[in-house]
Amino acid sequence: MYVCLCKAVTDKEIKQAACEGACSMRCLNKMGVATQCGKCARDAKQILRSTRAEI
Ligand code: FES
Repeated sequence: MYVCLCKAVTDKEIKQAACEGACSMRCLNKMGVATQCGKCARDAKQILRSTRAEI
């Protein structure tokens, strides 16, 4: 499922980034997440946080 429509980033990609060490929105920003309209920031942050909590 797309989380960031502007940059076409999926929840899977965010989870993978979290598993590979992304621990902040700054890391996700590098993938383009939340760099345009910003509407995805809240969901992306939540996915990042819950994935980091699982690992
Ligand atoms: Fe992610 Fe617009 S949906 S920046």
